[in-house]
Amino acid sequence: MRDAIIATLAQAREIGLTTGEIQEGVNAILGRAISPSSVRSSLRLNVGTTIVRVNRGMYALASRVASLEAPAFTYGKATLFHDDSLEWLARREPNSIHAVVTDPPYGAAEYSAREQSKLRRGQGGLWRIPPTLDGSTRSPLPRFTTMTPEDYQTISDFFTEWAQLVNRVLVPGGNVLVAANPLVSYVVSAALTAGGLERRGEVIRLVQTLRGGDRPKGAHEEFSDVSVMPRSQWEPWLLYRKPIEGTVAENLRKWGTGGFRRISDEQPFGDVIKGPPARGKERAIAPHPSLKPQGFLRRVVRASLPTGQGIVLDPFAGSGSTLAAAEAVGYSSIGVERDPEYINISREAIPRLSEMTIRLEED
Ligand SMILES: C[S@@+](CC[C@H](N)C(=O)[O-])C[C@H]1O[C@@H](n2cnc3c(N)ncnc32)[C@H](O)[C@@H]1O
Repeated sequence: MRDAIIATLAQAREIGLTTGEIQEGVNAILGRAISPSSVRSSLRLNVGTTIVRVNRGMYALASRVASLEAPAFTYGKATLFHDDSLEWLARREPNSIHAVVTDPPYGAAEYSAREQSKLRRGQGGLWRIPPTLDGSTRSPLPRFTTMTPEDYQTISDFFTEWAQLVNRVLVPGGNVLVAANPLVSYVVSAALTAGGLERRGEVIRLVQTLRGGDRPKGAHEEFSDVSVMPRSQWEPWLLYRKPIEGTVAENLRKWGTGGFRRISDEQPFGDVIKGPPARGKERAIAPHPSLKPQGFLRRVVRASLPTGQGIVLDPFAGSGSTLAAAEAVGYSSIGVERDPEYINISREAIPRLSEMTIRLEED
């Protein structure tokens, strides 16, 4: 019960929850109805160091209350906050972030307390383990093919609000790079536009994996020549910015933003980048189910600040891989993550990932 209460409080949008809201979360996680009096007595027993009473009948995680003022930790030029992305963005000073590079949650529910608890217990739920194709164990993937029209509406509403908040904290010309997938990218893209950001295209990450089954379920042999969907070998990263002020040159002078940092004098930043999945050592350092590879992240993070000056934000920081990439290329960065388990992973992962020697893929 205590763990379910902590998970509910950790994943909530709001910092504090009422006893009734906590009870609902606990029921969802445990999969059965717990009486209000049991929840209340467990709360009373555990109020102290981990859980605090923030108001009459309202409780919060002590770490989340503290995070309103203080970051969870800093390493080099990286700062990580344990918070909800939307709440943190709403409190952040306007015009104080220079680029956003992020890999947000998509299935609306795959990062909920209930689904994360199933994933950690190995019970599947929304997460499925792709079939082993070459003897190696594959990471869990959320199911996007089972999403309903209501799920798409939830995603659309969420990203419209998120884009409005991002627009407010970004300086004019600040780039926004958002990892997507071919099934949801059009919904997210429309929502980012509705939220006031300006579409600038897409960066294609050439993943080229063999992940995901492609044969008709239950009829592999009967239709042995059929692929249900093309085996996806790329990942769209939506490219947006806060509209610039005046000309590009004026914006670059005033804010240091409004373009991309070139790879070299001869080579501009391009929109197709080889980015095979994070493997072996990176996965061992940062065991997050959606870990993005350092090679790709370092390339896009470096390009996101055209003058190399400013702060890169990842508002869905996960294991801290974007912050590690920023650290590796010498940039200041801020991350926001609401799951305490991933905060703990990133505490160790940011230093280790940022110090890794990574061979960047040739174009
Ligand atoms: C797709 S994962 C990002 C993983 C990251 N690419 C990495 O390499 O570790 C999205 C992350 O956002 C977190 N998250 C989901 N909703 C959030 C919210 N409202 N505020 C802050 N973090 C949130 C999840 O816990 C998850 O770790």
